[in-house]
Amino acid sequence: MQLKSLESADLKGKKVVARFDFNVPLSKSEPRTITDTSRIDMAIPTIRLILEKGASKLTMISHLGRPDGQVNPKYSLEPVAEYLAKKLGTDVILSESAIDNGVKNLLQLPETKIVLLENIRFLPGEEKNDMNLAEKISQYGEIYVNDAFGAAHRKHSSTHAINAFFKNRSYPGLLMKKEIESLGALMDKPAKPFIAVLGGAKVSDKIKTIERMMVLVDTLLIGGAMAYPFLKAKGIEVGKSLCSAEDVALAKQLLMQDRGGKIQLPKDHVNAVEFGGAPLPCAETNIPSDQMGLDIGPLTIKAYTDHIKTAKTIFWNGPMGLFENKDFAKGTMSIAHAIAETKAFTVVGGGDSVAAVQQSGEADKFSHVSSGGGASLEFIENGKLPGVEALKFGV
Ligand code: 3PG
Ligand code: MG
Repeated sequence: MQLKSLESADLKGKKVVARFDFNVPLSKSEPRTITDTSRIDMAIPTIRLILEKGASKLTMISHLGRPDGQVNPKYSLEPVAEYLAKKLGTDVILSESAIDNGVKNLLQLPETKIVLLENIRFLPGEEKNDMNLAEKISQYGEIYVNDAFGAAHRKHSSTHAINAFFKNRSYPGLLMKKEIESLGALMDKPAKPFIAVLGGAKVSDKIKTIERMMVLVDTLLIGGAMAYPFLKAKGIEVGKSLCSAEDVALAKQLLMQDRGGKIQLPKDHVNAVEFGGAPLPCAETNIPSDQMGLDIGPLTIKAYTDHIKTAKTIFWNGPMGLFENKDFAKGTMSIAHAIAETKAFTVVGGGDSVAAVQQSGEADKFSHVSSGGGASLEFIENGKLPGVEALKFGV
């Protein structure tokens, strides 16, 4: 079933309730400022469209952080409300709570146009997918829009239960639709060769993604800390590299399943004696016993880049090394450049690799940079997400 289109919705004079994922990183010290506004920026086209289509009121819902059902000023959406007001050039009223009478009173006032409800996770019902909470929020509008792709893997009151109150009156936002279409295209007859580049910390965190990718792709290029358990499983020395026994066992299983020889592993490394210590080039696959691998080396960069050049579809998740440290960033940045340069359909998902792509300055050369971390991986693993299913079929 296709997702409906917000472009064709009749919103004239209607009150709209919309869920966004404004879960943005904030600075640790006061005053708390947003350190990366991408998630809000990506929601702006949906907000503008709702307003352009003549909605009389827009009530926005979001979570921020994990306050666990309790009011915690540290996780207030205040910086988000301020940023939205600046970006939209209009007032954005932040409610004191998502469900007090104040919200209803506010919405009665003719001058009120846009309300942002305070962090929905301040209420214990949200993460319990509570129907009563959903019903209360549903009273703020006649139309529900869900643009919170980043939270669509959560079965929560404002992403899931709420759909029960908007039968045939719910729409995906523009970002939600683009995410589902772009990530969906990876699974639905992708142009071949299809290459996945997977990195990041642990095999156990990504086991389902790796298994799914092994079915979908022609070649799987593995880098980052995740590579060492695979190397060890093949009897290669990994020195002091991050490598749990659990991950080595999982890697062994995956290598056994890989009858087509799709999995490619690093041939050389950039090592250090300690985490983040002075970089030591290592032209060997085996890592000396007193060293740990922290990035892929030049031979691996060349081999992986050659693969990438042949691809027609590319999915990337997870950095190739400790890219936050410039001594170990070359592998990740080289992969970002190589992918940016292809004519392939290219998708990057997952917090760290998205940050790396942004750092490379070439984000606009990717076909799609996903706003979802966990959500993008879960969608690839399962082919569906609770928040999207509820939007399509109701609750
Ligand atoms: C995210 O950043 O992953 C989404 O906003 C969902 O947040 P959560 O992982 O705290 O549920
Ligand atoms: Mg998350």
